[in-house]
Amino acid sequence: MRAVVKLGGALFKRDLDTVALRKIAGALSDFATQGNQLVLVAGGGQNARAYIVAARKLGADESTCDLIGIKLTRANAELLRIALGSTAVSKIPTNLSEVSHLAGNGKVVVLGGLQPGQSTNAVAALAAEITKADVLVNATDVEGVYTQDPKKSPKAKLIRSVHVDKLLNWAMAGEVFAGRYELLDPLALKILQRARIPTRFVSLVDPGNIIEALHGKVVGTRVVY
Ligand SMILES: Nc1ncnc2c1ncn2[C@@H]1O[C@H](COP(=O)(O)OP(=O)(O)OP(=O)(O)O)[C@@H](O)[C@H]1O
Ligand SMILES: [Mg+2]
Repeated sequence: MRAVVKLGGALFKRDLDTVALRKIAGALSDFATQGNQLVLVAGGGQNARAYIVAARKLGADESTCDLIGIKLTRANAELLRIALGSTAVSKIPTNLSEVSHLAGNGKVVVLGGLQPGQSTNAVAALAAEITKADVLVNATDVEGVYTQDPKKSPKAKLIRSVHVDKLLNWAMAGEVFAGRYELLDPLALKILQRARIPTRFVSLVDPGNIIEALHGKVVGTRVVY
């Protein structure tokens, strides 16, 4: 199986949780050594957002804020790569053609952001498209996609299956500032739509969720086309 997993910023807290990192790396390393091709995309998290906010206050434009955010996602990717040990490729790819060259060599490829103007969710969608992934798992800090932002609305309900067009409609109403791309961003969804990548949104609190989603079990939210 060929898979891409986006590990959201919730895994990279301000006080970095090496126990959680080791646990997730262990589960994903087992999955990869069972003969599966795996690409991991690290999100930004609190540290990336703190740097972006500081840069913006100091007068940086949005592209510069994004470039700083990308550096932090690459630092997160380095931590994951270290936790994976010899299972992972030692180089963090910095463009999409490197991702496709490195994937398929039997080791886990780990990367962060690539370009300003695109979230790491978009990077994960592009990596899934170029590596012809059978599945993309977007692991984040909530159980999946809800009817509303669950952090803002207590009435929000988890959706088990959602059409990509509906997600795109929601996403188009949101913002596209550095560090503010939330679960659903338009570019990531457009890539999913054109490549029709089987995708699931799950919580990363339990690595078992991610592994279940990789094996096609019913967990979190499934995107349909
Ligand atoms: N309809 C929705 N369903 C689920 N989450 C939503 C929804 N709308 C907004 N959100 C918010 O999106 C958040 C997840 O996106 P966020 O960008 O914070 O995490 P991430 O993408 O996993 O991490 P990072 O961007 O750091 O890589 C959730 O915590 C939730 O508050
Ligand atoms: Mg995000």
